[in-house]
Amino acid sequence: MQTVTTLAELRPATDALRRTGTLALVPTMGALHEGHLTLVRQAQAAADHVTVSIFINPRQFGANEDLDAYPRQLARDSAMLEAEGVALLWAPQPAEVYPEGYATNISVAGVSEGLCGADRPGHFDGVATVVCKLFNQVRPDRAFFGEKDWQQLAVIRRMARDLDLTQPHVDAIHSVPIVREDDDLAMSSRNAYLSTEQRAQAAALPQAMREAIGLIRDGAPVSETLGNLRDTLLASGFASVDYAELRDADSLAPRGADTGNARLFVAARIGGTRLIDNMAVE
Ligand code: PAF
Repeated sequence: MQTVTTLAELRPATDALRRTGTLALVPTMGALHEGHLTLVRQAQAAADHVTVSIFINPRQFGANEDLDAYPRQLARDSAMLEAEGVALLWAPQPAEVYPEGYATNISVAGVSEGLCGADRPGHFDGVATVVCKLFNQVRPDRAFFGEKDWQQLAVIRRMARDLDLTQPHVDAIHSVPIVREDDDLAMSSRNAYLSTEQRAQAAALPQAMREAIGLIRDGAPVSETLGNLRDTLLASGFASVDYAELRDADSLAPRGADTGNARLFVAARIGGTRLIDNMAVE
């Protein structure tokens, strides 16, 4: 696996790969886990070569968020990617991505509003901006993102369509289903922040979501069921629930009694750690 950290090295490296086949990009912020490796494997199945980016994007972290504490483990991540047969690792420093005087922002209206957009102002601008830059830097044929960040996926799809990024660079943005631990908790780099006790309590999140979905499918009133879901999480050790909402899976418009194409989205905090999850209702 070749590792490059500057744009000057990246261009010839991606050009060389493209000369011998198609190129897939898996954008990450490192602290890799099985969920990321699933993205890598799906990318390998869909393209001749895979580039993984590892860049902890400062622009998607709010002032009071965990940028400084975010796990940085490049040597470990690099070994994992090498073992998977990844062709190229793109691991720039912030000054390479946002040089002195950097002044451009991409803001996607609509799908970025509400849910995590309400709790993390500016977060999706940061995501859209860096993903647009990654597409222009790597110029992949395909890109792979996890469904755990469903709203992020919707923002990226909208941005790629609106800015014509899907032609000629990225033919397809692929989404990969959430990879879960044995107790059903969605895999996340942030799970590493949880103490042993918090980690055990965190399993209440997917469990309460599945129970709520079962009740909604059986005809229980949506708002009462979501209220009970919040109460269950608080009683299970979660400190707060940022949101528990039903939204249309594609437009992310709020959904009520009509649950066709709906997904349940939840963000809840356990200790200082914010966990998110989403599941199809039907
Ligand atoms: O999902 C992530 O890890 C990040 O938001 C992404 C897509 C790599 C952009 O920084």
